[in-house]
Amino acid sequence: MSDPAPTKVRGQDRAMIARLWRGYVSKHIGTLLLAVFFMFILAATQAAYVYLISQVGEFLKALGAPGSAEDKTLSVAVKVAPLVIGLTVTAAIAMFVQAILTNKVALSTIRDLQIDMFSSAQRADYALFTREGSGGLVSRFINDVTILTGALLRTITNLGRDVFTVIGVLAVMLYTDWLLTILILGILIVIILPLVTLSRTLRGNSTDAQSQVGTITEQLSESFGGARLVKTYGLEDDQDTRLEKSFTERFRLYLKLVTNQARVDPMMEVIGGIAIVSVIIAGTWRVASGAIDGYGVASILAGLVVLTPKLRALGTLNNVIQEGLAALSRIFELIDQKPTIIDAPNAAALNVSKGNVEFTDVGFAYENGDGPALSDISLSAKGGQTIAFVGPSGGGKSTLLNLLPRLFDAASGEIAVDGQNIRGVTLSSLRENMALVSQDVTLFDDTVAANIGFGRKGASEDEIAAAAKQAAAHDFITALPQGYHTKVGPGGARLSGGQRQRIAIARAILRDAPILLLDEATSALDAQSEAQIQEALERLSKGRTSFVIAHRLSTVRGADQIIVLDNGRIAERGTHDSLIAAGGLYAQLAALQLS
Ligand SMILES: Nc1ncnc2c1ncn2[C@@H]1O[C@H](COP(=O)(O)OP(=O)(O)O)[C@@H](O)[C@H]1O
Ligand SMILES: [Mg+2]
Repeated sequence: MSDPAPTKVRGQDRAMIARLWRGYVSKHIGTLLLAVFFMFILAATQAAYVYLISQVGEFLKALGAPGSAEDKTLSVAVKVAPLVIGLTVTAAIAMFVQAILTNKVALSTIRDLQIDMFSSAQRADYALFTREGSGGLVSRFINDVTILTGALLRTITNLGRDVFTVIGVLAVMLYTDWLLTILILGILIVIILPLVTLSRTLRGNSTDAQSQVGTITEQLSESFGGARLVKTYGLEDDQDTRLEKSFTERFRLYLKLVTNQARVDPMMEVIGGIAIVSVIIAGTWRVASGAIDGYGVASILAGLVVLTPKLRALGTLNNVIQEGLAALSRIFELIDQKPTIIDAPNAAALNVSKGNVEFTDVGFAYENGDGPALSDISLSAKGGQTIAFVGPSGGGKSTLLNLLPRLFDAASGEIAVDGQNIRGVTLSSLRENMALVSQDVTLFDDTVAANIGFGRKGASEDEIAAAAKQAAAHDFITALPQGYHTKVGPGGARLSGGQRQRIAIARAILRDAPILLLDEATSALDAQSEAQIQEALERLSKGRTSFVIAHRLSTVRGADQIIVLDNGRIAERGTHDSLIAAGGLYAQLAALQLS
């Protein structure tokens, strides 16, 4: 009980709620107040309805309705019925309007949160994406957001509509017969308490079920995304087994959830029965002792029918709020993602004059990798030179290239462009001066022209076409159904690997940057296209400092320097001829490939 932890958590929760209110919900205060107003109307009509029932007896007396049954019936039909119908119609309208307004507040809050989440996630360090994978990130946008939407709606509705209704209806009931009301309410509260405990269990069940949904989502997208591998390697049965396990787990978790959920309604049924019996017994006593009439008892019964679901909802509200807060904390965690690779204070724009690049004793290790991925890397590229990196896979070639645009920061040593430390210049100016083409080409589901155009914002159609021509892509593009305006499909699925690669090269050509990073840029091409592209790349790299990773040694023969990376270290360096003459690792690789 005196454990400090819960207090601390509650403090954090309060801070989160305050932040949600200030940053997101309070913007919609007008809509929210209007919703609350209609909630108030709705609650008032319900209370009035209950009151009206209790007053039917008085009403008839006041009318001085003569004793005949027919006259009384007629009076009720003509005078009371329209009132009740009028009230229910008002209630219906208020119910509709408040539902729309409440949803509007909740949905706009969620939209704003999603916008902030995405904007933050995108700007997070590149390491976040390699660490978390897209699945975990996507689930925050889908699962957590769904949970939070539900929690927001419940909270607004329960705290507005339901609280007003409980107060209004309770006031009418107490006014009609306070003793009877207190009696019934006492019984009701004692028997409704176990439900609150049960709903705590339900909350745990539903959290488990939700996270299982996340797992299924990830596995499905992996299986469908990998359809080609699954089919050609005949992995259907393995995938069946994997997903069957997940679907069965989902079945188990949801069955547990609905079993617990299914306990609630039968319990409510019995509770309702007990409550009605109490009203009948206690009501008979009150009528017999002349405190109220039959209409009064009917009114208290009606009040009970209105109250019970509201009390039940309020009793379980805390659990829903807790669930929503857990989702909210995961959402804020993403929004609060602070990139560590940022502009240094007073960073100046990078000024590239010659295009010299210098690595001095650079070392780097991945946070979850075992041992350093790069150590003691020193190299110097003069402006306009082509530096080729070769060596066994896993040697650290891609890692080295990633350090230049600061996708990761070197752990030790220094990288400088024209004498300026890359950590001392603005990120945007650094990246503007580089163009990267990698093996895994990224295309968005947009037109060919747009995909090339990402190379340089504001490029004209002519410039795009000129870049495509240089990348030997123009011919195949004009042969597409809508030419440059053809949509490439998700991830460029409508194009061949070689076509995708040429678009990526055209994009880099359009970028017209002084430093060029090519990470196995021609690996997806056949020999003939590669020869074509090679020419384009050679033209492109003229006058630019180029860092080229190639697994086909024939493409790097002419490089000014060839650096052999093995195990994160520079094993050899030199020109093609000197390395062949040295008879080391490069000579061995060359003997294998060029024979
Ligand atoms: N995101 C990452 N997290 C952890 N380790 C990584 C990551 N990327 C690469 N590595 C590891 O770093 C080493 C160098 O990888 P990489 O630079 O991709 O090699 P290369 O491009 O020469 O094939 C490898 O051992 C690889 O497993
Ligand atoms: Mg690589």
